[in-house]
Amino acid sequence: MSDTLLAPAAARVRHLISPDDLDRPLIETLLTLAGTFAAAPQAQLLSPLKGRLLATLFYEPSTRTRLSFEAAMLRLGGQVISAENASSRSAASKGESLKDTIRVVAGFADTIVLRHPEVGAAAQAALASAVPIINAGDGAGHHPTQALLDLYTIRQELGRLDRLRIGLVGDLKHGRTVRSLALLLGQFPGNELVLVSPAELRMEDDVMTRLRHAGLRLREETDLRCAVGDLDVLYQTGIQRERFTVEAEYERLKDVYRVDRTLMQRLPQHAMLMHPLPRLSQIEPLVDQDPRSAYFRQAHNGLYVRMAVLHWLAVAN
Ligand code: NCD
Repeated sequence: MSDTLLAPAAARVRHLISPDDLDRPLIETLLTLAGTFAAAPQAQLLSPLKGRLLATLFYEPSTRTRLSFEAAMLRLGGQVISAENASSRSAASKGESLKDTIRVVAGFADTIVLRHPEVGAAAQAALASAVPIINAGDGAGHHPTQALLDLYTIRQELGRLDRLRIGLVGDLKHGRTVRSLALLLGQFPGNELVLVSPAELRMEDDVMTRLRHAGLRLREETDLRCAVGDLDVLYQTGIQRERFTVEAEYERLKDVYRVDRTLMQRLPQHAMLMHPLPRLSQIEPLVDQDPRSAYFRQAHNGLYVRMAVLHWLAVAN
């Protein structure tokens, strides 16, 4: 029997739980590696992760994140086992604790990708796991691989990650993608964040305090139209329905910001429009034809960035 079933996690295992696990040199390394995978399909033919097994354990819905991780592992020559509906279709529905589930799955697989509705779930899982945990979203906590693929896309399209004015728009209180992205952008000099949200959905103080410490210029706005005229990146997000306790509140706020062709006329020509997707009604479909609309390219880049993350963790552990 494998030790991993019996022993607590080894202290030295490296995980990817939050932006804190990514310093600037590591970010640069991962983005460069992702670029290599994007440019050279033959590198994938070498099957560097052959013989390794990835488990994807998803307690919340996902299309892009889960499938891009699975595609990334398969393209690197590894294999995948998956619980895509883990809250209702796994032993969690019988009351098994996350910690017990992780301890067992860590005995089957070499890496675990976890999405869970509770903030801190991935960090808890890491404490119980003898293999690397990758946080694919912990409630309104963090989503570090999304933030990495966002950086990759910005660098790809604008050529740099510093001295940018980036507008983060929507549900900044619950949006884990923007929480992680803001902290990663804070590692590059000269960036300014324009935080556009209704007063009820402002970015939480835990992130704000750290952004101030990082020396980022910060501007808060409630009116999207006033905010877009001098942006390099317009990063639109959804209002996170599953995080609201009162449905009427969600209904009141869900369409507060829409990107349509009229708004795009205000966005500078050199700028780009991003969205972690799904976009629901937050971007009018006719905007897709605009060359500045980067969200489908952004989703596609998730494949290469996740290949880089899986490769790094395999080598680092
Ligand atoms: C996001 C998520 O689930 O955190 N989607 C994604 O991973 N691309 C954003 C969202 O659901 O709005």
